[in-house]
Amino acid sequence: MEKFFGIFSELIKNKIARPVEGYSGPEAKIYDSIQGSFNMEIPFYKSFLNDKKRNVLELGCGTGRLLIEFAKEGCFITGIDNSEDMINICREKSKKLSKKIQSNIEVINSDMGSYKLEKKYDLIIVVINTFQHIITINDKIMVLKTAKKHLNDNGYIIIDTQYLRESAPVKSNISCNLIKTNNNESLYMYQSDFDALTKIEKHNTLQIKFNNKKPNDVIVSSYYLRIDTIQEMESIVEKAGLHITNLYSNWKKEPVKNESRNIIYVLSK
Ligand SMILES: C[S@@+](CC[C@H](N)C(=O)[O-])C[C@H]1O[C@@H](n2cnc3c(N)ncnc32)[C@H](O)[C@@H]1O
Repeated sequence: MEKFFGIFSELIKNKIARPVEGYSGPEAKIYDSIQGSFNMEIPFYKSFLNDKKRNVLELGCGTGRLLIEFAKEGCFITGIDNSEDMINICREKSKKLSKKIQSNIEVINSDMGSYKLEKKYDLIIVVINTFQHIITINDKIMVLKTAKKHLNDNGYIIIDTQYLRESAPVKSNISCNLIKTNNNESLYMYQSDFDALTKIEKHNTLQIKFNNKKPNDVIVSSYYLRIDTIQEMESIVEKAGLHITNLYSNWKKEPVKNESRNIIYVLSK
């Protein structure tokens, strides 16, 4: 697959912008300012844990938005991410926590399809569309097979993602925001296009950094997301030797509705 596409490849070709990999360098640095520090999901995930079940594994933990909240709640959490830059930010944030909370956290730089840990977990989570970063069906099966090996017998794997329905095609999207980070300003543009044939959404981001109100760096990044139908996910889950225990449309555990784009898969052995 091409790394950079659309008008963004033109910007690179004409040396107007410099390319970076998704979730690396300046893309990692700006992530928390864009994504924010929301943690409304915590009560939902905590409902699958109790005093005896407190071991959590997060696949694609990024800068630790959720991982740090779990550690504060007294869970032992391992985070896996294949972006060293995202993980380094997570480690820096963890250092500011008390020693006790820090001791609840372990962060590992690895692909979510190929890690091998001694420990087993009560809850394995893949949140806010991270599972869609896995582009092929075979790789998605591999991610779930690897997770299954690390799951306690009465544990759950929870995937919070989007799903595709013929009745509601995915629309192209564009947004532009001014982001302030440590006295600097960045204009952050985000654009996505969905290909109904491959079910792949192409994402482009453009970051213009300003110094004293003058643009001094232009950065572009691209990445792909694969949006699956429920039927495809059912087959992926089955091939990984897992079962769908529950389907929800949101963290309030409401049933999947026709109009909802989001879906939460609760899987068990
Ligand atoms: C949308 S961010 C979510 C970060 C974090 N979970 C959060 O809720 O803010 C997706 C994360 O998944 C990571 N990621 C993408 N593909 C991955 C893979 N194959 N293996 C491990 N991590 C991956 C990215 O580096 C990024 O940090």
